[in-house]
Amino acid sequence: MRVLLLGPNGQLGHDIRSAHEEAGEPFELLPLARDRLDVSVSGAVERVLDEFAFDALVNCTSYHKTDEVEDNATLAFAVNAHAVHAMARACAAKRARFFHVSTDYVFGGDVTRAQPLREEDPPSPVNVYGASKAMGETLARRTCEDAVILRVSSLFGVAGPSGKSENFVDTIIRLGQEKEVLRVVDDQVMSPTTAVDVARLVLRMLMDGCAPDLYHVVNTGSASWFEFAREIVRRAGIHTTVAPCTSAEYPTRAVRPRYSVLDNGKVSAAFGPMPPWQDALERYLSTKANVTSQIVPTVSSKKTRLITFADRYFLMTTDQAPPSEIAEWLRDPLFAAYVLKHRLR
Ligand SMILES: NC(=O)c1ccc[n+]([C@@H]2O[C@H](COP(=O)([O-])OP(=O)(O)OC[C@H]3O[C@@H](n4cnc5c(N)ncnc54)[C@H](OP(=O)(O)O)[C@@H]3O)[C@@H](O)[C@H]2O)c1
Repeated sequence: MRVLLLGPNGQLGHDIRSAHEEAGEPFELLPLARDRLDVSVSGAVERVLDEFAFDALVNCTSYHKTDEVEDNATLAFAVNAHAVHAMARACAAKRARFFHVSTDYVFGGDVTRAQPLREEDPPSPVNVYGASKAMGETLARRTCEDAVILRVSSLFGVAGPSGKSENFVDTIIRLGQEKEVLRVVDDQVMSPTTAVDVARLVLRMLMDGCAPDLYHVVNTGSASWFEFAREIVRRAGIHTTVAPCTSAEYPTRAVRPRYSVLDNGKVSAAFGPMPPWQDALERYLSTKANVTSQIVPTVSSKKTRLITFADRYFLMTTDQAPPSEIAEWLRDPLFAAYVLKHRLR
């Protein structure tokens, strides 16, 4: 099987490539980055896809800087809708499967909603980004019989979102180290989701097969951005106060859904339960911290341990102070949390 991957360097694209490697490269995966195919250029999708034979196409491209998109609707509809239409046409012509990634932001118009949204609930976007993605979904499904639409939400992945440099988790960790108080909106509720869990599911769907359909692919559970931030800070061991605020206190160019929690029952029934977002966050923090620990030879007679942590290096002798004192000595809240949790010494 040969699979084309568009948007291979974004958060999800990166994790799909990693999941493919982890699984032992069970099929041929061809990443096509922006330098090879700029999907916003009229006619480019048709021209470039025509050069390849493929059995499935996975589209992770998106123009999703939600506030910026409000003033750039033409580009948003070009990338998120017209290019998707062209991909669906190419897949239909080649009898290839089309995996297209969409968003919880196709919802939000039902302001009284307080129950997780199911696949059969009608889209009701409240901003240009959501409207462009909703149009992409419709065109994909109408054009390609074998289209699988995966709606994901509030992604955090090790690659960080394209053009934004850091995702919400990384931003909260950075700000939490700089500020004593973080104010975060408590009136937007969503499904925090790690890109790696979506990527692994995409791989299973490609290999095991699945019905062409619309699927909500999110980690289990829900949180407001405030609740999510509070959990990030707690698990990372950062000493800052997270305080709730309202969207009205921090107006943004684009309106956001007040409630866009996705019900992942359909995908869980077919492929097994999606992990809770708290578990996903814990795994993300461990991966991102990239902690390694090894005994290294030194000039002194004492055994010395080299600890690599988030691209920084620490040396400590093994018969030094207990972990709590080492942590204090290093004065690095994330590192301290890690040392205490894993009892490194
Ligand atoms: N991030 C979220 O919180 C979130 C939430 C809900 C849904 N989603 C959806 O999930 C999917 C993946 O999101 P993500 O977080 O992985 O996004 P991402 O990290 O920003 O990656 C987007 C990818 O799209 C590529 N791209 C953008 N414009 C392009 C163009 N004109 N031509 C070719 N490639 C282009 C980018 O290429 P470069 O690497 O060259 O910039 C990047 O590889 C998207 O469909 C998004 O709408 C994301």
